[in-house]
Amino acid sequence: MSRRIAFLNYKGGVGKTSLIVNTAACLAQQGNRVLLCDFDTQSNASIWLLRLERWNQLVTTAGRTVFSLFQPEPPLLTDLIVRDVVEDREGRKILPGLDLLPTSFNLVDLEADFTGDPRKPAYVLFREQLAEVEKDYDFILFDCPPNVLRASQCGVFAATEIYVPSNPDALSLIGFTLLVEKLAVFHDAAAGFRRHAFGPPAQVQGILFNAVKAGTDVEVPKMRMQLRLNQFKSARRVSREAKIFASQVRDATIVRRAVTLGLPVALVSAETAGDSAGIIADYRALTRELLLHSLSA
Ligand SMILES: Nc1ncnc2c1ncn2[C@@H]1O[C@H](COP(=O)(O)OP(=O)(O)OP(=O)(O)O)[C@@H](O)[C@H]1O
Ligand SMILES: [Mg+2]
Repeated sequence: MSRRIAFLNYKGGVGKTSLIVNTAACLAQQGNRVLLCDFDTQSNASIWLLRLERWNQLVTTAGRTVFSLFQPEPPLLTDLIVRDVVEDREGRKILPGLDLLPTSFNLVDLEADFTGDPRKPAYVLFREQLAEVEKDYDFILFDCPPNVLRASQCGVFAATEIYVPSNPDALSLIGFTLLVEKLAVFHDAAAGFRRHAFGPPAQVQGILFNAVKAGTDVEVPKMRMQLRLNQFKSARRVSREAKIFASQVRDATIVRRAVTLGLPVALVSAETAGDSAGIIADYRALTRELLLHSLSA
């Protein structure tokens, strides 16, 4: 059975996309079959992995991105998937096993203009389509915007685990708190649509500290986060197993450069990357910890 994982925080810019892209790459490098679904209108993960030129080609052809699933006469989700998405400049596939469900800016229309059947919200439409490809993957990952609005709901409803990327600051803590509140509201509203086969509603399983600068004292923000996590655990508002991950990802300029190069950090060549071994080790350690994280029943 595939593990279905969303990365989410109500705070923007904490590293949801960079963590999910690089985790997906590490999982694929270890031989896992991975599908990354992009539910962020900004399309950052899609543009990163496809590079602008291929992404532009894709979005100018009707019915090639995730938004088309919510329009009349939708395509099959399986036909939208870009298989082994990562290519080098010569078009050679260089990361077998990492597939992408791409998005485009028009996904924003889902928030305002979606007039589907009220008996079948967008997240149910998506969940049904996803069921057809689930068996092909070990991991299905959902990159979401910093909210739980319609596009994000598709990822949240389909996921069974949520991880919260955070920076060591007060705003990430506020974002986490808001997220737990909004998740509860959404899960309540969606409860009537949840079928047994969809799996249980996703709970927060972990906090992932990202972009930690050398010399920054993370102990105080970590302690505050731990206190909040403990409160939520006592109130059963997050998973019993929820924890702050021991692996944290350092701040490194290569992350921004990797976006420009259209590659996950681990695939940027050593000459271009300079001293990137440290951050690659961070992503690998985080991925190992994610693999080991056991879920409560
Ligand atoms: N470890 C890191 N070191 C340095 N820069 C980073 C790191 N992680 C992310 N960044 C940079 O921080 C910015 C925000 O990261 P990212 O886009 O991953 O955040 P996000 O949470 O997905 O944002 P949004 O809420 O807009 O979707 C990007 O410019 C990214 O390159
Ligand atoms: Mg993002």
